[in-house]
Amino acid sequence: TILIVDFGSQVTQLIARRVREAGVYSEIAPFNMAEEAFHRLKPKGIILSGSPAGVPDEGSPRAPEVIFESGLPILGICYGQQVMTHQLGGTVESGSGGDFGGEFGRAFIEISEECVLFDGLWQVGEKHQVWMSHGDKVTEFAPGFRIVATTEGAPFALIADDERRYYGTQFHPEVVHTPDGGKMIGNFVRHVCGCAGDWTMAEYKDAKIAEIREQVGDKKVICGLSGGVDSSVAAILIHEAIGDQLTCVFVDHGLLRMNEREQVETLFRDHYNIPLVVVDAEARFMKGLAGVTDPEKKRKFIGGEFIEVFDEESGRVGGADFLAQGTLYPDVIESVSFTGGPSVTIKSHHNVGGLPERMNMKLVEPLRELFKDEVRDLGRELGLNDQFVGRHPFPGPGLAIRIPGEVTKERCDILRKADAIYLEEIRNAGLYDAIWQAFAVLLPVKTVGVMGDQRTYDNVCGLRAVTSTDGMTADVYPFDASFLTRVSTRIVNEVKGINRVVYDYTSKPPGTIEWE
Ligand code: XMP
Repeated sequence: TILIVDFGSQVTQLIARRVREAGVYSEIAPFNMAEEAFHRLKPKGIILSGSPAGVPDEGSPRAPEVIFESGLPILGICYGQQVMTHQLGGTVESGSGGDFGGEFGRAFIEISEECVLFDGLWQVGEKHQVWMSHGDKVTEFAPGFRIVATTEGAPFALIADDERRYYGTQFHPEVVHTPDGGKMIGNFVRHVCGCAGDWTMAEYKDAKIAEIREQVGDKKVICGLSGGVDSSVAAILIHEAIGDQLTCVFVDHGLLRMNEREQVETLFRDHYNIPLVVVDAEARFMKGLAGVTDPEKKRKFIGGEFIEVFDEESGRVGGADFLAQGTLYPDVIESVSFTGGPSVTIKSHHNVGGLPERMNMKLVEPLRELFKDEVRDLGRELGLNDQFVGRHPFPGPGLAIRIPGEVTKERCDILRKADAIYLEEIRNAGLYDAIWQAFAVLLPVKTVGVMGDQRTYDNVCGLRAVTSTDGMTADVYPFDASFLTRVSTRIVNEVKGINRVVYDYTSKPPGTIEWE
């Protein structure tokens, strides 16, 4: 086990993920609970995360002294490096004032000495890309350390004390923009800490099942299915833990894709034998969405209405105490603003931000620390087939956030047809698995066209397809022109209400994947 001490960085979960990728189990503990976690976990090594705080700031967090007394290996990342330096007797200076304004984004480090973290990766004299994001920096390292690599802005980009097995990086090895960073973390947990690297998703599943049993006891759980992979995996996992104490509720809010309701019914009722209630709430959602055009208002309404429907249904199934949701880590990080931290709300995710205060159930969210691809692995572990776990993500608010402007049943019907054609063509072309997410969008714009010598004045349909590994960043999928032509022709010919098709050529950032 590796203990990750969290100082509030946005990307602490990425550290945990990299450790999992190296086949090692880890737990994250907030810095002020790390001492307790240390004694409980008996870890083989410790990683100190980054932070929105600065070491020179008054009241900024410190690592518990016990980790320095333990004789265990420590890897300090960014703030972690600085706090370690400070606590071991070095100096950290603030970026404000002086000639150092901080270093943000891509940087290149030059390797000046050998280091165990570079095993199989980097040689002395080479330069490699890393990702920096820091305002403060170490100006004098603590006794026992040596400099291993430098960047222009950070003379102590990587420092090491081999005797005590302490390592500190100014850059962020956990993010994908440090291409070799994951392997470097792997070197730390395996070669330095001596972890075996044989931990698997099967163990994660067993641990989560035990955790769910403990949390829920003999109480009842109600789980909202969205039709997507996340809520399905959450439900199946919970069902494996507590059997028929779980009831799944599938709300047909009228914002679903073509045939989605039928597919969910087949999978849950027939295949997994999980108690399933299907609620036909289309009319209710459409009524509430009438006249709503602001994306955040749509999201809040749909999230709130969902919970209301659950409350009613849970009353009907005999009172559930827990509400299960398939919230993933990217949902959490993009929705929650850390107190005092720099993270801002981009979108109120349905699973998180839409929850009204008066909700009277406790939450079970067994996927909260996972990324999408890890959820897929977990789904396979639970017996879901590749085709199902390979399904593109689908957001809780459904088609509503793919219909900018007012959402009506008529517009949903139009979009459903166009979307189904687009996805059918993608499947036929064998491209489905190469794409993270593909969907159609219905724009609140009418344009003039001509069909069969007649003037048309109809809606524009946008097509979106992106590649991604975790939904946090995304690239546009580069279809052949002939493919797009075929889809465009079919949609305009077959879907009444659309006379023009455009392709969205925006990556994330600056765009988001969904349009709202
Ligand atoms: P964005 O649009 O923020 O989306 O780039 C990132 C990923 O999250 C999905 N998404 C959601 N998933 N509830 C969900 O369960 C939501 O409210 C929600 N909003 C966006 C989106 O489809 C993409 O995969």
